[in-house]
Amino acid sequence: MGYTGLRIHHHPVLTFRRGREVTIYFEGEPIKAFEGEALAAALYAAGHKILRYSPKHGRPRSVFCMIGKCGSCIVEVDGIAKRACQELVRDGMRVRRIKGYPVLKEAGGGAKPVEEVEAEALIIGGGPAGLAAAEVLGTHGVRTLIVDDSHRLGGQLIKQTHRFFGSRELFAGLRGFQIAEKYEEKIRSFESVDVLLRTTAIGVFKEGVFAVGEERNYVLRAGTYLVATGAVENYLPFENNDLPGVMGAGAAQTLMNVWGVLPGKRPLIVGAGNVGLIVAYQLLQAGAKPAAIVEAAPRIGGWFVHAAKVRRYGVPIYVRHTIVAAHGEEGVEAATIAEVDERWRPIPGTEKTIECDAVLLAVGLTPNVDLLRQFGAKTKYVPELGGLTALRTEYLETTVPGVYVAGDVAGVEEATTAIIEGWIAGYSMLMKLRGERDEWMKERERLLKLLKTYRSSPVSARVRAGLEKVIIGGEEVA
Ligand SMILES: Cc1cc2nc3c(=O)[nH]c(=O)nc-3n(C[C@H](O)[C@H](O)[C@H](O)COP(=O)(O)OP(=O)(O)OC[C@H]3O[C@@H](n4cnc5c(N)ncnc54)[C@H](O)[C@@H]3O)c2cc1C
Ligand code: FES
Repeated sequence: MGYTGLRIHHHPVLTFRRGREVTIYFEGEPIKAFEGEALAAALYAAGHKILRYSPKHGRPRSVFCMIGKCGSCIVEVDGIAKRACQELVRDGMRVRRIKGYPVLKEAGGGAKPVEEVEAEALIIGGGPAGLAAAEVLGTHGVRTLIVDDSHRLGGQLIKQTHRFFGSRELFAGLRGFQIAEKYEEKIRSFESVDVLLRTTAIGVFKEGVFAVGEERNYVLRAGTYLVATGAVENYLPFENNDLPGVMGAGAAQTLMNVWGVLPGKRPLIVGAGNVGLIVAYQLLQAGAKPAAIVEAAPRIGGWFVHAAKVRRYGVPIYVRHTIVAAHGEEGVEAATIAEVDERWRPIPGTEKTIECDAVLLAVGLTPNVDLLRQFGAKTKYVPELGGLTALRTEYLETTVPGVYVAGDVAGVEEATTAIIEGWIAGYSMLMKLRGERDEWMKERERLLKLLKTYRSSPVSARVRAGLEKVIIGGEEVA
């Protein structure tokens, strides 16, 4: 049985309620794991970072996103290709690495049953944006269905251990995972709101939205739709950027804060925005010692308070530096960093090699717009909002009538703004279904004002500039 010391046993904020101890088999070798934890986390904790080999060059692959989006963790589970980050451990499961392309097989050798479900409102994505919209719809008795591909509601919030800023209405003072728990409880209390977890919406068809679940598949139809699918983490080009142990900072958070497994004992972090700084602090809390943080910009992009905390623990922050290579055979063992010029090009002769066992990329996110495009919504590339995102009215209706957007998929921002957008989209959907009412219009205007207040600080200047490029008039919804 593998033991690597990556399991977190003591944490100042989190308590890991692990399931019963079971045995799973990886390439025939028995491994100790906990029932109900992500298979990828169990394998990583047991020292099995290599999960598959790339189809063309046979390069080793491990987790990169931990949210089911990158495909680098696909393994064979009891003969069926599955994403190890989304698959939950069961006693006795037999897991094998895949070399080349996975083989397409259906569970039990036959097609899964397809269930047709109708609702008044379909929400794709149960992160803060989707949950906030569901809150409005549930409060008004609208038959609502939320689908989410994760095992829990809350989106990115379930891995945030730091306290949020803002107002009481927006959960200031609570930690992200506590906000997710509160929201989940509230949503589950609405009789008119149903939730399908571990279910991925993969396509928009004439018959409805097709979604793949564990036991069955679904065709989902509704009077209004909200796409609240969040964002995916960005990659960075450098030598060996596909080595096992190179992963998104959000993936590292999922491993350590959701599953209680360290991504490494001495990771190097790339990016000193809020995400990079917060992850560094969370690693320290969990018992790891980040090797360093590198940042290509001339100054730290995140809040000073986060940077100060990390520095107090002796983590060096190298500004005007980038990563140029990761080194190792089967996983990260070291990385080379170098100083950059004003155009962020590495300056030859300034290279330094740093020993580390993981490289965590905190270099931004890109809106997850695939489904929006399948709905036929017009999109536009807006760098200030993270990339391609939907054109929409200020009430968040896209160019396709009845299809709304909210949260990071509408422009990478924050949970607080995602929640306010979710509320606004919720009122828009409510009025689409039930007609306009004075009190609903007034509440929506109040929320719009609140959103503007949140975006009025100099920190949000980029977002404001981006929004100017995507907000359209109602007459353009056709
Ligand atoms: C390290 C870090 C720290 C942060 N700190 C803060 C902070 O202090 N304050 C703050 O306000 N914000 C913070 N944020 C940002 C915040 O977490 C996000 O902006 C917010 O979660 C976005 O909400 P969302 O609902 O749009 O998307 P998400 O939270 O990403 O939720 C999207 C959901 O959709 C699901 N999904 C996606 N595609 C599909 C599909 N095809 N089918 C079914 N389900 C799907 C996903 O599984 C996910 O559950 C932080 C983010 C990070 C990474
Ligand atoms: S799909 Fe599992 S790590 Fe990306």
